Amino acid sequence: MQVLVTGGCGFIGSNFIHHMLATHPDLSIVNLDKLTYAGNRRNLAEIEASESERRYHFVHGDICDQALVPELMRRFAFDAVVHFAAESHVDRSINDPFPFITTNVLGTQNLLEAARQAKIPRFVHVSTDEVYGSLGPEGLFTEDTPLAPNSPYSASKASSDLLARAYFQTYGLPVLITRCSNNYGPYQFPEKLIPLAYLKASQGQAIPVYGDGLQVRDWIYVLDHCKGVEAALLRGHAGAVYNFGGDAERTNLEIVQTILRLTGANPELISFVTDRPGHDRRYAMAFERSTRDLGWTPQQSFEQGMAQTLSWYAANGAWLDEVQSGAYRQFMDTWYATRQT
Ligand code: NAD
Ligand code: DAU
Repeated sequence: MQVLVTGGCGFIGSNFIHHMLATHPDLSIVNLDKLTYAGNRRNLAEIEASESERRYHFVHGDICDQALVPELMRRFAFDAVVHFAAESHVDRSINDPFPFITTNVLGTQNLLEAARQAKIPRFVHVSTDEVYGSLGPEGLFTEDTPLAPNSPYSASKASSDLLARAYFQTYGLPVLITRCSNNYGPYQFPEKLIPLAYLKASQGQAIPVYGDGLQVRDWIYVLDHCKGVEAALLRGHAGAVYNFGGDAERTNLEIVQTILRLTGANPELISFVTDRPGHDRRYAMAFERSTRDLGWTPQQSFEQGMAQTLSWYAANGAWLDEVQSGAYRQFMDTWYATRQT
């Protein structure tokens, strides 16, 4: 099987590529990534070193490129596209929505159209629970919950979901949409709550908690999400939407307190700051359809997943240092130069 993965140098995409190449010896992957601030080729450096001539190819490019994307699809005759590439951070979307519309909406449209022209037999569009909006204290999002996005980020993701749906309904492109809750785990960029709080706690700096800190997210270990995307790719029904969740609702305050406890940092580092505008109060996922149709359930408990994640960050201080200093942006040039000599 030959798969085009988009956004494979980001957090979830790189975990997905590690998982798929390790567990499917017959699979090869082309990774198309623009290397925005969130893309880090270091995440896949070992794979590039060992697989570059055989099962893994990196293409530095933009999903919005109307020449490159069709050209790639013609050249490689992919069996499937797994589309992770996106602008993914809500706070950035509030500061400047335009890149979100460009990449998440127009970029997805460009991929869908190229896949249609190339008659790609499977297209997994990776989306998010945020498209459903915000829950009150009770209830769960199902795949039939109406879309009600509240941030420019979630509006752009909901728009891309609707385009994906339209390409199935109108053109019969075999698209599947997956929607997952908040991921955590190795390689997450430290602008997101868990790695940010870990970094601040380990450096003895104040940890910003928005508003009252009682907003609830349903946390899932990234490998469980990757296994859900894998199951959708291999066993999902074209045209279907699949929810994935971690069965681990926690308030933001609980998350930060857990990190402070596990790192032994000072509890007084918690600093309540002005709330995020339009801040969704609660997300929580029902995922019975994924269990029934895909045989998927989350495997990792929140406690184990958090302990494993913080151990990973502790053992990978060099990765965090490079991300913080910006050195990761230059890393690959140097790395390639070293390999070629
Ligand atoms: P990320 O920000 O860590 O990575 C995004 C990747 O996409 C980066 O490698 C970046 O360089 C690449 N990219 C951005 N714009 C591009 C473009 N125009 N062309 C090609 N590549 C581009 O994101 P993530 O957290 O790994 O999320 C991956 C996907 O999963 C996104 O679609 C996101 O909406 C979805 N998702 C994320 C979560 C979460 O908790 N992080 C939960 C559910 C769904
Ligand atoms: O639910 C899935 C979504 O999860 C994905 O679609 C997004 O790509 C991903 O970024 C994530 O969105 P959130 O906005 O939920 O994640 P973030 O880590 O930014 O924030 C988690 C919660 O913590 C949220 O309620 C805001 C709060 N927060 C965040 C930061 C960065 C703080 O209180 N302080 C902070 O400094």
